Amino acid sequence: MEIAAFGEEHLAAVLRLCEAEGWPTLPTDPDRAMRALTAPGVVSVVAVEGGGVVGFAYLLTDGEIEAYLSLLVVAGHVRRRGIGRALVDEAFARSGAQRLDLLSAAESEGFYRSYKHRALAGYRIYPIAG
Ligand SMILES: CC(C)(COP(=O)(O)OP(=O)(O)OC[C@H]1O[C@@H](n2cnc3c(N)ncnc32)[C@H](O)[C@@H]1OP(=O)(O)O)[C@@H](O)C(=O)NCCC(=O)NCCS
Repeated sequence: MEIAAFGEEHLAAVLRLCEAEGWPTLPTDPDRAMRALTAPGVVSVVAVEGGGVVGFAYLLTDGEIEAYLSLLVVAGHVRRRGIGRALVDEAFARSGAQRLDLLSAAESEGFYRSYKHRALAGYRIYPIAG
């Protein structure tokens, strides 16, 4: 297994990983997904094994202080082998940030609690419809 910078050749596999989790936002518009995953201030990395993508992480960073982990997924058949940890560690290191915030699904809390952390209440807000 190796961690590599995300490139266009990984896009289809990344979208399949999202679909397997029931996450429609990126697969709905692959061109938009490509722009988002390569936007300024974004760090996107993939885990590659046997020629295939088995996980990815996508974070936003100011390059100095604060980063936000937007998406993290490891394929079901290779979980608990340290790939999620390797993806976060590499993306965090590449971000240049000192701390990394995120929203966690209940089933992923065991993973995030395995880091040195502070647990804070999280919210995702949307624009107020005009
Ligand atoms: C969360 C996720 C990315 C973890 O990836 P992973 O490759 O399985 O994690 P790792 O093997 O690197 O785990 C590192 C440590 O985290 C902890 N951990 C990981 N998964 C855990 C779980 N399900 N329950 C409890 N602890 C867990 C363990 O301490 C583990 O170390 P250990 O295996 O030596 O005990 C993966 O389960 C996943 O993709 N889940 C579905 C998508 C998802 O929920 N993404 C996060 C969105 S909030």
